Amino acid sequence: MRQSFVSRKACGERLACLTAYDYPTARILDEAGIDVALVGDSLGMVVLGYEDTTSVTMAEMLHHTRAVSRGVQRAVILADLPCGSYDNPAEAVGNARLLIDAGADAVKLEGGLAVIEQVRAILGEGIALFGHVGMLPQHVREDGGYRKKGKTDAEHAAILADAEALSEAGACAIIVESVKSSVGREVTELVAVPTIGIGSGGRCDGQVLVIDDLLGSFPWFRPGFARPRADLAGEALRAVGEFIVAVKQTGDPNHGID
Ligand code: KIV
Repeated sequence: MRQSFVSRKACGERLACLTAYDYPTARILDEAGIDVALVGDSLGMVVLGYEDTTSVTMAEMLHHTRAVSRGVQRAVILADLPCGSYDNPAEAVGNARLLIDAGADAVKLEGGLAVIEQVRAILGEGIALFGHVGMLPQHVREDGGYRKKGKTDAEHAAILADAEALSEAGACAIIVESVKSSVGREVTELVAVPTIGIGSGGRCDGQVLVIDDLLGSFPWFRPGFARPRADLAGEALRAVGEFIVAVKQTGDPNHGID
């Protein structure tokens, strides 16, 4: 799989990636032609109602990965290793294997040099892996919130070193989250594999978004860089409101529909 991603970068093909957590969304993304369907641990926030991604469990990731795999025929299914599931190489390999058995084509973990032994162990088992550098949501608590990375010289250098280590270890591609756009461009120029940006400017090799930020289905929290192309929450509120009025006033759930 890595070779196909390296070739796509070499010929300048941009990658479109969105998250999916369930069968119908996965099926829509696949039919629309998405390159990568990411079963992200963002499901903790936008599906399960947790405050952040840090309490998502392997059991939850497996459940949603199975649902997504039933809806995808063509796209690459990428599944996140959740927080605490890759603290050492043996645990990382065991949990990566479970995600693959649940239907993922590749797994993703957060960090570079700090988790490079885990990365090597997973790749050593022949499991395809995507990296994730820059803002790391699984570290949001120790970081004191969601903020752009790469603004200081030390952060800038660390992001480049992490991305280079992941690329050299054999990752298929690297998610670059919430870094200054100049840093997104530099990482993209530095590494052999595609970079997939989120909130990191337009110079990465591809882009990823949380599907709810694109569809406007989770209006209670949306990162500043995400522009919705639909208002599903608004449309759902309208339909539910009409149903309530129809039932209470007429007893007919279909009242008012032609
Ligand atoms: O979990 C997720 O949705 C992600 C994206 C933000 C890249 O990792």
